[in-house]
Amino acid sequence: MFAEKTIVITGGSSGLGKALARRLLAKGSRIALIARDTGRLTAAREDLLRGVPAGVTIDIFPCDVADSRAVHQALGELAERTGLPDMLFNSAGILREGYFERQPESVFRETMGVNFFGTLHCIQAALPYFKKQGGGKIVNICSVAGLMGVFGYTAYCASKHAVRGLTASLRAELKHQNIAVHIAYPAEFDSPMLEEVNVCRTTENRTIAATIPTLSAGAVADDIIRGIERNRYEITPGIVTRVLTGFDRVFPGAGRLVSDLRVRRVYQGPESDGSKD
Ligand SMILES: NC(=O)c1ccc[n+]([C@@H]2O[C@H](COP(=O)([O-])OP(=O)(O)OC[C@H]3O[C@@H](n4cnc5c(N)ncnc54)[C@H](OP(=O)(O)O)[C@@H]3O)[C@@H](O)[C@H]2O)c1
Repeated sequence: MFAEKTIVITGGSSGLGKALARRLLAKGSRIALIARDTGRLTAAREDLLRGVPAGVTIDIFPCDVADSRAVHQALGELAERTGLPDMLFNSAGILREGYFERQPESVFRETMGVNFFGTLHCIQAALPYFKKQGGGKIVNICSVAGLMGVFGYTAYCASKHAVRGLTASLRAELKHQNIAVHIAYPAEFDSPMLEEVNVCRTTENRTIAATIPTLSAGAVADDIIRGIERNRYEITPGIVTRVLTGFDRVFPGAGRLVSDLRVRRVYQGPESDGSKD
C-alpha cells in the first residue's frame, strides 16, 4: 500500500509528521516533507535518513501551509522533483491554549489559518495530481479536540471541528473518484507542540488533559498507519482514547460531565492572577 508511493507529509519536520515519515520510509515510500523552517526540515531529513539504505532520498519543501499560493507552488515543484503525489498527510498544526476571554481574535485567525485553511490548501493543491493518477489518499490529522469541547482550547477545538466537517464531506465526494479519505483523532502525545503547551497551560486544561495517558508520537503513528491499512475512515489512536471517545458517542454528555467535575475542583478562571499549579 505504501511501497514506491510518493507521500507528502505536512508538519513532517517534527512530532507526529516526522514519526509517520520514519515508518513510511521503512515501508519503502518516497517521502516529501513540508514545514516552514528550512533548518528544522533539513535536520529532520538527516535524522530520518540515518540507518536507511543508501540511495533513499527525502525531499523537503519549506512552505507556510496557511499561504495558498505558496502551497500550490510547493506541490508543483514536488510533482516535478519527487513525483506525482499518491498520498497526503496533513499533520501541520499549531495549538494556542488559554482562557477564551484572554485570547485575541488574532489567535483564532492564526489557528484557523494553519489547522483548517492549511489542510484545505494542501488538499486543493494535491487533488489535481490525484485525479491525474486515477486515485490517491488523504489523511487529515485532527484531534480528540475535533470530537468534543476542551477547556482552554476554544480556537484549537474550532479549527479541529472544522477539519472534521471538511473531512467528512470530502470523504463522501472523493470516494467516487477513487480517492480515500481518513481522519485521525489522537489525544495528547509527546511532541514539541505538547512541550510548548505544557509550559503555560491553564490549570483547568492541565487537569482535563490528565484524563488520558500521553502516548508517544511513534505509537500514534503506528496506530494511524494500521488504521489506513485496514481502510478505516476514522482512526482513534490508543486504546484508552478509543474506549473513552467511544463511550462518549454511546452516552452523549458523558465527556462533558467528567470534564465539568474535574474542572470544578481546580477552577481559577480568566480573572485569576495566572499563577499555575
Ligand atoms: N501533540 C499532541 O498532543 C496532539 C494531539 C492531538 C492532535 N495533534 C495534532 O497532530 C498534528 C501534529 O502535531 P505535533 O504534536 O506533531 O506538532 P509539532 O511537533 O509542533 O509539529 C508541528 C509541525 O507543523 C509544522 N507547521 C506548523 N505551522 C505550520 C505552517 N503554518 N505551515 C507549515 N508547517 C507548519 C511545524 O514546522 P514549522 O514550525 O517549521 O512550520 C512542525 O513540522 C497537529 O495537527 C496537531 O494539532 C497533536
